[in-house]
Amino acid sequence: MKILKAVNNRPYDIWCTDSFTDLKKSIQAICQPSSICIITDSHVAPIYLETIKNIGQQIAPTYAHVFKAGELSKNITTLTDIYDTLLMHKIDRSSLIIALGGGVVGDVAGFVASTYMRGIPFVQIPTTVVAQNDSSIGGKVGVDYLKYKNIVGAFHNPLLVYTNISTLKTLPKRELIGGMSEVIKHALIYDASLFEYLVAYKNQILSLEDSVVEEMTYRSSQVKCSVVEEDPKESGVRKILNFGHTVGHAIETLSDFKYSHGECVAYGIVVAAYMSYKRDLLNLTQVDQMIELCREFGLLEPLDKYATSDIWQHMTYDKKKAYGKVSFILLKGIAHAIIVTDINEKEVEEAMKFLEETCG
Ligand SMILES: NC(=O)c1ccc[n+]([C@@H]2O[C@H](COP(=O)([O-])OP(=O)(O)OC[C@H]3O[C@@H](n4cnc5c(N)ncnc54)[C@H](O)[C@@H]3O)[C@@H](O)[C@H]2O)c1
Ligand SMILES: [Zn+2]
Repeated sequence: MKILKAVNNRPYDIWCTDSFTDLKKSIQAICQPSSICIITDSHVAPIYLETIKNIGQQIAPTYAHVFKAGELSKNITTLTDIYDTLLMHKIDRSSLIIALGGGVVGDVAGFVASTYMRGIPFVQIPTTVVAQNDSSIGGKVGVDYLKYKNIVGAFHNPLLVYTNISTLKTLPKRELIGGMSEVIKHALIYDASLFEYLVAYKNQILSLEDSVVEEMTYRSSQVKCSVVEEDPKESGVRKILNFGHTVGHAIETLSDFKYSHGECVAYGIVVAAYMSYKRDLLNLTQVDQMIELCREFGLLEPLDKYATSDIWQHMTYDKKKAYGKVSFILLKGIAHAIIVTDINEKEVEEAMKFLEETCG
């Protein structure tokens, strides 16, 4: 078990462990809630809700709200349903919300916690690779509205993140593989030793060996903490977390979500890596190493063809553009991300061609 200190605006601990043994202790160390409401989804509830509810009951009267699993539930109706549950159980500022699940649950429950009674405390118990390594850290919470993802949201830090990596054992394989692209991203933008760790321990990670997954998650969470600490409100360096995401999002949308977010991020990583190579920022061996690592984790499966003009159009309409220009993350060597705003359609086209050859 390891504890990581996150500091973005307000410090909080990230417990990284392989059981729920210390959950009660970790909550009691930071608050004495008068009641608890666990928010989770319909896939996670049958597996973990009873365990967490039993632990909650040892602290205070504990209630639960379960919503239908999936991104489609990340909406305003789900919020109002949860507000109804909170009112019914007289949850107030002395209570505690627990988000138990993946990134969808964390974002929804976190947003509820940030708005109900102008903000009440919450704890994250992330149960997917994405949530444990990425979404539970950094305080971004919110929901989708109309066709806009995460358009209604807030910054609201949890009191605590309690990561039990053994929950990954029940995660569907495709979710596991997709989530690994975010871990690879963290290594590539910030931490060369994590990159080496992933290369050395890929088999143990894929077979979910506890001690190895715990170490990986600890290191990867550390990257997210460090980047967020430098830039809590995403005005500068935090943008490097979008590495692989600009083209990734374009493919995700154009494919009509045939490929998962994580799968698309891996394609985006290859495109960004190739563009970095063409600008003499990376050498071909480094690009090959990245591709090899993605492949080892089951990413970079054959990809349909997409017209660069469509990809480019999507990229230039992306909300992350700066002053009308696309801000794009490249790598100047492994673990050194840079933000550029002068990419053009031609270099995207060449990189897309390379991606097609790689994943043909
Ligand atoms: N706030 C942030 O900074 C941030 C960062 C990255 C992603 N996100 C958001 O996170 C969401 C994606 O998160 P995700 O990939 O975790 O998706 P998710 O929450 O939908 O979880 C994926 C699937 O796995 C199921 N599941 C979760 N844990 C399980 C377990 N241990 N065993 C069995 N099944 C389990 C879920 O019910 C769901 O069906 C997106 O909405 C994205 O916008 C937010
Ligand atoms: Zn992502």
